[in-house]
Amino acid sequence: MGDDTTARIEYLSRALKAPRIRDTAERLAEQARDGGWSHEDYLAAVLDREVAARDASGAQLRIRAAGFPARKTLDDFNFDHQPALNRDQIAHLGGGVFLSQARNIVLLGPPGTGKTHLAIALGIKAAHAGHRVLFGTAVEWVARLQEAHSRGRLAAEILRLRRYGLIIVDEVGYIPFEQDAANLFFQLVSSRYEHASLVLTSNLPFARWGDVFGDQVVASAMIDRIVHHADVITLKGASYRLKDTGITTLPSARPENTTE
Ligand SMILES: Nc1ncnc2c1ncn2[C@@H]1O[C@H](COP(=O)(O)OP(=O)(O)OP(=O)(O)O)[C@@H](O)[C@H]1O
Ligand SMILES: [Mg+2]
Repeated sequence: MGDDTTARIEYLSRALKAPRIRDTAERLAEQARDGGWSHEDYLAAVLDREVAARDASGAQLRIRAAGFPARKTLDDFNFDHQPALNRDQIAHLGGGVFLSQARNIVLLGPPGTGKTHLAIALGIKAAHAGHRVLFGTAVEWVARLQEAHSRGRLAAEILRLRRYGLIIVDEVGYIPFEQDAANLFFQLVSSRYEHASLVLTSNLPFARWGDVFGDQVVASAMIDRIVHHADVITLKGASYRLKDTGITTLPSARPENTTE
């Protein structure tokens, strides 16, 4: 390419707010000449690269904005440690159809069995697929809703959250709520019902959620909405955190050591 043309492409790609195009255009021009590409093939290849780069940086932005506590992927997940888990089901969920159908996912199981790992991995997949995602623990979500409520902005906040294709609520059950928290949480669940997805994780079976929320009626109405269109996945076994410690089970987790 002549110097003039190179300078014009540099100027024009900046004007288009796509400065990467300058490098791609130069790099692919050589390849195009060598390969005898048509003008159309060349243009399509340059635009292709730009779109791919934008998608990737958009996904990175969405992943950063989601507030994940760590980066975890489905590829990192060791299914041998969860033999009862249906790999096909998890792979299918990773495909993200549940998001367009506003279905929910509930991950249940004892500590260290990979609930948060899978929730993050599904969230990262969703971000790559173009969905906005927000991650928080149940306690963080309630604090956020309480704060909005105290500023008289609860309805606006709940409406704003509907623009997120996926909301992840981690650790339902570790810390019990007060009753007003249960009501706030119910409003979040109910606003997303059949509209946008939730991924929830809990160490407790649904039967015990009433105790967590301090209100059996609110808890059952909430669970009813969550599970109407949902995959409920139960993880089992010993904590993965103990895997390389030489400890096979926590003493209190061995059946012979429990009083039940
Ligand atoms: N099957 C697995 N393959 C690979 N890593 C795993 C697996 N299960 C758990 N881990 C890892 O073990 C650690 C604990 O898992 P995770 O945080 O997902 O557990 P959890 O079920 O959310 O536990 P808790 O109820 O205590 O929050 C994480 O670092 C996670 O990446
Ligand atoms: Mg967890």
